[in-house]
Amino acid sequence: MTSANIESLLHENRLFEPAATLSKALGGAYVKNAADYRRRYQRSIEDPETFWAEIAKGFDWFRPWTKVLDWKVPDAQWFVGGKTNVCHNCVDRQVLQGHGHEVAIIWEGEPSGANGPEIRHLSYRDLQRETSKLANALKALGVRKGDVVTIYMGMVPELAIAMLACARIGAAHSVIFGGFAAAAIVDRVQDAQSKVILTCDGAWRRGQVVPLKDNVDAACETLAANHAAVEHVVVLRRVGNAVKWHPRDHWWHDLTLTASDACPPEWCDAEDLLFLLYTSGSTGKPKGIRHTTGGYMVYTAATAKEVFNLVPGAHQVYWCTADCGWVTGHSYIVYGILPNRVPTLMYEGAPNAPKEDRFWEIVARHRVTHFYTAPTAIRAFMKWGDEHPKRHDLSSLKVLGSVGEPINPEAWIWYHDTIGGGRCPIVDTWWQTETGGHMITPLPCATPLVPGSCTHPFFGIDAAIVNENGEEQPANAGGLLVIRKPWPAMLRGIHGDRQRYIDTYWSRVPGMYLAGDGARRDERGYFWIMGRIDDVINVSGHRLGTMEVESALVAHDAVVEAAVVGMPHEIKGTGVAAFVTLGPGHEASDALRKSLMEHVTKEIGAIARPDMIRFTQALPKTRSGKIMRRLLRDIAAGKESRQDTTTLEDYTVLAKLRESDE
Ligand code: PRX
Repeated sequence: MTSANIESLLHENRLFEPAATLSKALGGAYVKNAADYRRRYQRSIEDPETFWAEIAKGFDWFRPWTKVLDWKVPDAQWFVGGKTNVCHNCVDRQVLQGHGHEVAIIWEGEPSGANGPEIRHLSYRDLQRETSKLANALKALGVRKGDVVTIYMGMVPELAIAMLACARIGAAHSVIFGGFAAAAIVDRVQDAQSKVILTCDGAWRRGQVVPLKDNVDAACETLAANHAAVEHVVVLRRVGNAVKWHPRDHWWHDLTLTASDACPPEWCDAEDLLFLLYTSGSTGKPKGIRHTTGGYMVYTAATAKEVFNLVPGAHQVYWCTADCGWVTGHSYIVYGILPNRVPTLMYEGAPNAPKEDRFWEIVARHRVTHFYTAPTAIRAFMKWGDEHPKRHDLSSLKVLGSVGEPINPEAWIWYHDTIGGGRCPIVDTWWQTETGGHMITPLPCATPLVPGSCTHPFFGIDAAIVNENGEEQPANAGGLLVIRKPWPAMLRGIHGDRQRYIDTYWSRVPGMYLAGDGARRDERGYFWIMGRIDDVINVSGHRLGTMEVESALVAHDAVVEAAVVGMPHEIKGTGVAAFVTLGPGHEASDALRKSLMEHVTKEIGAIARPDMIRFTQALPKTRSGKIMRRLLRDIAAGKESRQDTTTLEDYTVLAKLRESDE
């Protein structure tokens, strides 16, 4: 984040009080006002164990826990000894309580025929039947409790069914975003030692077919060569594109046709692995973040309930526009929403397919009441123009949400006025893959909002801004964002890498969880996130390790060295800027630039595609050989550097970099 941004945020003082009519419109507010929040927050911090035990009692447990929390830095166990099943609490419980016929998932496909798009409504009973069938099919393939099943699918209801089916039998899932390339599948399958992949023939994206099965085939080939052969690939037919067939392949519809629809949920320990989700770090390969059963279930459902004020039976329709391949989809399309018995809407495709008003058409068609999206999408909508939302009836909307990166005040105001008609609060939710659920967030009927601030910590969350010694910083002083107490949905480690877990989150400020974000807290206690403190960039609200992109670039024949930094980008928030040194015999050219961009897309996926590539004779380095990324960031942003360059090894490099054309 630039200092100009920080300046503008510092001067952002507009306060938006919750409308008095909101509570009624939402079927009654869980947290009624600011004083109510403060009271409950105080109680939750003074005695988190009693606070969370009371909430956890609202779920079905097959065996009660004997101890709420066992905490020894950096290891937490919640609801120790308790046995439960997340799929049961999302699905079966609703059926058992007489709500089996109610809508659990509303799905809309991307392509539109003469009669409009394909729409499906799945009830809790449908989910129970389908998850049971798939669960039995997985068991028949040899999947057992504790195994990791990889899921690489498009946004179809079967993706949620696949996740829930794994949870039902106590297998962990590892969902890989369908926009990632084959290489990303290889790394993740290998790290998780996963033997079974669930996929689709293809996925629809802006009218084009994404060849998911082909990508899986390519990954399987590499994996076999690496002695990590995948045993079974289950393929859902969605698009009807031609696919190659191998002995390891099975059609989803064949396996489930004969599978029994009765599959009692496995008794899982509260600390059994529920899923792995890979996310980027500043060094090395993506890390498999481990989330377990009991604490994650309780925390995601509790935050969803309070943060969106979800009320069953109050005609609410909740829509989160994320993909299930990200943590937002895990926690706030599937696991946090289903236990709240409010329909969760899944949309298959792009926001501009076929036109730029697709999202608003969906909101109007399904009378969406809760809409949760990312600032990058909001900035794209702003650019596309007000006429698109204006064409549709958005009067059903009651609560808006934002996630993934700081929302700039201009985008906030546009979202509030143009989408929310000035009447909907915006819950700007700060959290991470590692935190499992919302950590710092407004509550819709209780929190006065300031555009750009994620406001206050959720119940039980002891968030603080500290310096390297763990000392709390005074108001408005920037520092490290840490969490000083464990919370139920916190990560339980990095899969297979204990040391990296300790080094990344628990070493810099001993005894506290280090989020990796810089932040400040203003004199009213509002939190302002200022951006990452490591070599991770936030592109369109998605985390990307600059090193991953650098590795992809140097894997190209022409490249000997590459440095990647973030640069300001109008829509993405942060774009990818690459500085590249070519090997002998390779000439800088537009054709090469394009081929490098395509190479990165192929290696990682379109989100990592560089927005700018500059060819350079050398990179600015310190005398000890470290690339001076700050200088590169300034150059990428088109700024004169005010950084200290006294340790720069070769001053001429800088001048040459500035001269080099784009
Ligand atoms: O830098 C913060 C930013 O996204 C990071 C977490 O990324 P990821 O694990 O991919 O999860 C994204 C979805 C939860 C954080 O460290 N971030 C996320 N939400 C916000 C945010 N920054 C500012 N405001 C937010 N609301």
